[in-house]
Amino acid sequence: MYQQLFLEKQFTETLKSIARRADLKLYVERTPQLNRLLRQAASRYITGNFRQDGLEAGRKLVAKGYAISIEYIGENTTDATECEAIVAEMKALISDLGQAGISARVSFDLSHIGLSLYQELAFSHLMNLAEQVQGTDVELFISMEESSKTDDILSVYKQAVCVYPNIGITLQAHLTRTPEDLASLLSPSRIRIVKGAYQESSDYSIPRSPELNHRYLELVESAIRQGHHVSIASHDEVIMDEVLERGWLSDSKAEIEMLYGIRPDLASRMQNVGHPVRIYLPYGHEWYLYLCHRIAEFPPNLYQAVIDMVGNEEVERMQAYVERG
Ligand code: FDA
Repeated sequence: MYQQLFLEKQFTETLKSIARRADLKLYVERTPQLNRLLRQAASRYITGNFRQDGLEAGRKLVAKGYAISIEYIGENTTDATECEAIVAEMKALISDLGQAGISARVSFDLSHIGLSLYQELAFSHLMNLAEQVQGTDVELFISMEESSKTDDILSVYKQAVCVYPNIGITLQAHLTRTPEDLASLLSPSRIRIVKGAYQESSDYSIPRSPELNHRYLELVESAIRQGHHVSIASHDEVIMDEVLERGWLSDSKAEIEMLYGIRPDLASRMQNVGHPVRIYLPYGHEWYLYLCHRIAEFPPNLYQAVIDMVGNEEVERMQAYVERG
């Protein structure tokens, strides 16, 4: 048992560092057969390569009573022209959501739209997007990246939210600084609380543990008490049981948010007893890092990935979100 836990921890750390290796990513991209196989495994978690795929999945989930977040996936863009193209794609997404009458949250990494070049670029793109969503049913939501970027991300967010209040921010419970970051936000804000997907030093982060769950719940409670709109973004049943027991979902300002393809059974169960559940739908070509994170945070997903790579049956993923019996 001890050996298994040790191996799982090592596996998780290795996969998270593989995720950061640009040379490996390039190798995957340039090796057609490997690329095809991994893309097949990623399709469990990514709605498709194109905006239409995300919108189509979104439409089906909305029809089943879920709220949705949607992300044109990617991060760490280091070319200004590419940033422009990404913002253009996001603007088209916002416009298509409006035309389809879908109320949604558009999520993104600030490093996808300029933060990896300079802060002002990300800020001006964010303001541009925020201007477009004014008066629509779309809200913008900023994801949280590695801790080396936390200050910059919070700084851009805080400047923008003063002007456009329908921008949300993600906070990571695993960073020891997060209670202070939460306390520094204007109230009420739109906040998503996650455990944290990135590999961080133990000097300033808490690993997956009962202590982290305790910290996570403390943050959610504190955010609700401060009057924020809170997205409880987790697939952890222990967390969900506590959330139900503490009655946090009867507060209309709190909701559950889960990633597409992960624990659809749990999402469906929560939704079927009347709790607000939002599903996070990524689309696009930049699925490599995302796939690595989803496998790293739950190693049995590696078995699933192998099955998905060799299996040739097309699974109707949406079926998993429907309550059966
Ligand atoms: P945890 O990882 O502790 O796992 C607990 C249990 O949940 C597992 O035992 C398993 O049953 C289930 N589970 C968890 N992950 C699973 C998986 N991949 N497959 C199957 N079962 C799984 N992170 C970040 O750093 N910045 C961000 O901006 C975001 N944004 C974000 C948005 C949304 C909507 C969600 C749900 C998550 C994020 N994350 C994120 C990811 C987050 O930080 C975290 O890595 C994952 O949610 C996994 O943590 P859990 O709380 O789910 O539980």
